[in-house]
Amino acid sequence: MLNLRTLVLATAKFGSKIQSLKACRQLRFSSTSYPTSVFRTVHSSEVKHQGPVAKPKEEEKPVLVNAIRDVDGSMITIGTSTGEQHQYPSLWLRDNCQCPKCFNTVMQSRTLDWKYFDVNIKPTHIMAEDNQLKLVWSDDHESDYDFNWLLERSFAENVRKDWLKQHYPMMRISWDTANFNKILNKYNFHDVLNSETTLLDLLESVATYGIAVIDNAPPQEDQLRKIANKVGFIKRTHYGEEYMVKHQPDTNNLAYTPGNLQMHTDMPYYHHKPGINMLHCLVQTEAIGGDNQVTDALHITKKLKEEKPEVYRVLTETPVDWYDIGQEGGYTFHSLYRSPVILTDSNGEFLRIDYSQQQRDTHFTVPLDQVIPWYEAHAAFTEEIYNPENTVYFKLKDGEILMFDNVRLLHGRKGYDDKPNNTRHLVGSYLDWDLAYSRIRVLRKKLRGHTLSNQP
Ligand code: OGA
Ligand code: ZN
Ligand code: ZN
Repeated sequence: MLNLRTLVLATAKFGSKIQSLKACRQLRFSSTSYPTSVFRTVHSSEVKHQGPVAKPKEEEKPVLVNAIRDVDGSMITIGTSTGEQHQYPSLWLRDNCQCPKCFNTVMQSRTLDWKYFDVNIKPTHIMAEDNQLKLVWSDDHESDYDFNWLLERSFAENVRKDWLKQHYPMMRISWDTANFNKILNKYNFHDVLNSETTLLDLLESVATYGIAVIDNAPPQEDQLRKIANKVGFIKRTHYGEEYMVKHQPDTNNLAYTPGNLQMHTDMPYYHHKPGINMLHCLVQTEAIGGDNQVTDALHITKKLKEEKPEVYRVLTETPVDWYDIGQEGGYTFHSLYRSPVILTDSNGEFLRIDYSQQQRDTHFTVPLDQVIPWYEAHAAFTEEIYNPENTVYFKLKDGEILMFDNVRLLHGRKGYDDKPNNTRHLVGSYLDWDLAYSRIRVLRKKLRGHTLSNQP
């Protein structure tokens, strides 16, 4: 750990002269708040405290007080009037220079040419003036950074976490059969199209619980398109923009028969699989059957992670070959995608579920010793899916639209007796989560003045 460093200090309030000082300083950062980077050990005696950004009271808006650099110029630390410090790597500052040469504010885009970017660049002069951090670089380039702009981009843990919470997919709340009725929200079709508040509520419901119902939709095949256009646009797949889920002779897809549809996710064989599934019930069968079934895979994966970690490990680590081969509307397809049943990110957080018996390839391209453990784990997973504690049945009524998260929920359908003049007819369309989240952020900003999540 380096304690003895030469600091270049520039202060706005306490004299603007650039001074050099030799300092032997103690580490006062809380190690839980900051990563242990050697650069983060640099302090200025003028700054009393470094820590998470306290929410400023209305009357005392913090201002920029001073700015210092560490001895080799790799890190800049700014001090605020409320006694906080925030550190920024010089490299990040140079990369994010906001001058017209480096950033186009109209396009909100970086224009700095990275072909010529020098990762060893260091600031030679640093100043805190008029609530701006001003830097002169070793190649004479000059950069100014607004203090509030810097604060919003602080690397402090709480600032980063808050930003992610507010701007990325909101908190997901998992559910099982016992609380399904409490989490299922219903919206009127007309309101969804005509009230942005209702549209936002609907999208937030689907984002949070993975499911919502819309009722009173007119009995035409093109109604889902109206909702999709309010969100963005339909996600087209090789089954078209609207696909007809009804008994179709000579079909290449089990869904287009009156048969039982085992629990599944749609299109696991796409790298970019549809995010939101919309099923519009035009005509429900009067016969027994035709009920839908849904399960929250987020709930099941959490449960397995706790109760059967080995099953969870195998399902997150073993890639499965998903496929779809056939023809639709004159288009011949051969889709392949390889992904585990439970896909997680680098932090182990749930990303996506893939599960479909009809679209699991007979090719299973894993080493021999992984085959049987995978089948055992898959059986344990399947048992949870069909466990009545986790799975919910309901029969859609004419005019209802079931909207659900295809990345998170599993769904199925009970087979039905296809009598003449009693033809069950659903229309399906998909939406991308990218567009739905974008709409959520835009509507939050417009209707609430901020993009913050209002979830509990
Ligand atoms: C599908 C599907 C459900 C239904 O087409 O993929 O899940 O109710 N259909 O027919
Ligand atoms: Zn610049
Ligand atoms: Zn389906």
